[in-house]
Amino acid sequence: LDKVRAELQQLADAGLRRRMRPIDGPQAAEVVVDGRRAVNFSSNNYLGLAGHPALQRAAAGAAEEHGFGAGASRLIAGNLAPHRALEERIARWKGTEAALLFSTGYQANLGMISGLVGSEDTVFSDELNHASLIDGCRLSRARTVVYRHADADDLARKLAASGPARRRLIVTDSVFSMDGDRAPLVELVALARRYEALIAVDEAHAVGVLGEDGVGLCAGLGVDLQMGTLGKALGGFGAYVAGAAPLVELLLQRARSFVFTTALPVPVVAAAHAAIDWLSGDEGRAARRRLADHVDWMANRGFPRSHILPIQIGGARATMEISEALLARGLFAQGIRPPTVPPGTSRLRVALMATHTEAQLTSLVDALAELRIR
Ligand SMILES: Cc1ncc(COP(=O)(O)O)c(C=O)c1O
Repeated sequence: LDKVRAELQQLADAGLRRRMRPIDGPQAAEVVVDGRRAVNFSSNNYLGLAGHPALQRAAAGAAEEHGFGAGASRLIAGNLAPHRALEERIARWKGTEAALLFSTGYQANLGMISGLVGSEDTVFSDELNHASLIDGCRLSRARTVVYRHADADDLARKLAASGPARRRLIVTDSVFSMDGDRAPLVELVALARRYEALIAVDEAHAVGVLGEDGVGLCAGLGVDLQMGTLGKALGGFGAYVAGAAPLVELLLQRARSFVFTTALPVPVVAAAHAAIDWLSGDEGRAARRRLADHVDWMANRGFPRSHILPIQIGGARATMEISEALLARGLFAQGIRPPTVPPGTSRLRVALMATHTEAQLTSLVDALAELRIR
């Protein structure tokens, strides 16, 4: 244990030791953080759905009707009617032939990549892709070629220079989780077609928020596989991969993070179904509009045009100090440090929610000015 303690001390010395902050009360635009009430700028609950009565009712009703646990993996005895109904609903929403549920987005990305490619294949991966895509590449044992962030020209060069492979796969976030910017999807799909590659896109931070009915950024572009989470804007838990039927079927056969794990609990599935229905309704449209208005409001004050605003600080320790200084002012913007972001690029990751008020946004902008961050 002394060696383990020394390792933990090394993390602390580098300003990289993390701790789980106690959050009390429901996930909302205001939460109690470390016992202090604060405006929540750190959540992926972009539309405020996590505490929405429609999801509560759906989950409670499903628990009454079906019980809680699925009892087994999907391929053994856990393929229940709500799972099948949700997959059909997701495919309809996404406009794809099929969809497959995974227990988390992390597992979806592991399974999507390692289910499609292996040691005779090559994956092309954006340098700022989410850790779960990176880990999927590692698990797959495919040759992984990292291209410059959101740089279609660099990807084109790397595709042209890559040797023979049984299969080529391009993987990217659509909205990057820690930067809030977007992949050049049209160009990436064109490259995929030109070089006979598949393209898989992680829509974790786009679904719910962007596109018609919150469908994300891939609709109509010819992306082969769209992965999305049910745990961020959709306010619940779980994930899916949607695409052409043979690709989804291959994942069902080969994605070990799908095959060897228990199916999602039924109330979780029912809440996700209710969330997708809600997105296409009046309330969903109004929430997306409110969030888009907040994005414009911040952009008019010099911030990037995104619901995810990276506020670059640089050093890990300085970032955490500024995060604490904001918390002392009743504003919760979690500091993000390596390995989540590259060394020297620690930052505050400010996430906007439809349920924020303009007064809350104003207090953030004022506090950042007062701390001379912006
Ligand atoms: C881009 C991206 N992909 C995948 C995930 C993983 O999703 P989940 O939280 O459902 O495991 C996350 C966040 O956690 C993410 O930001």
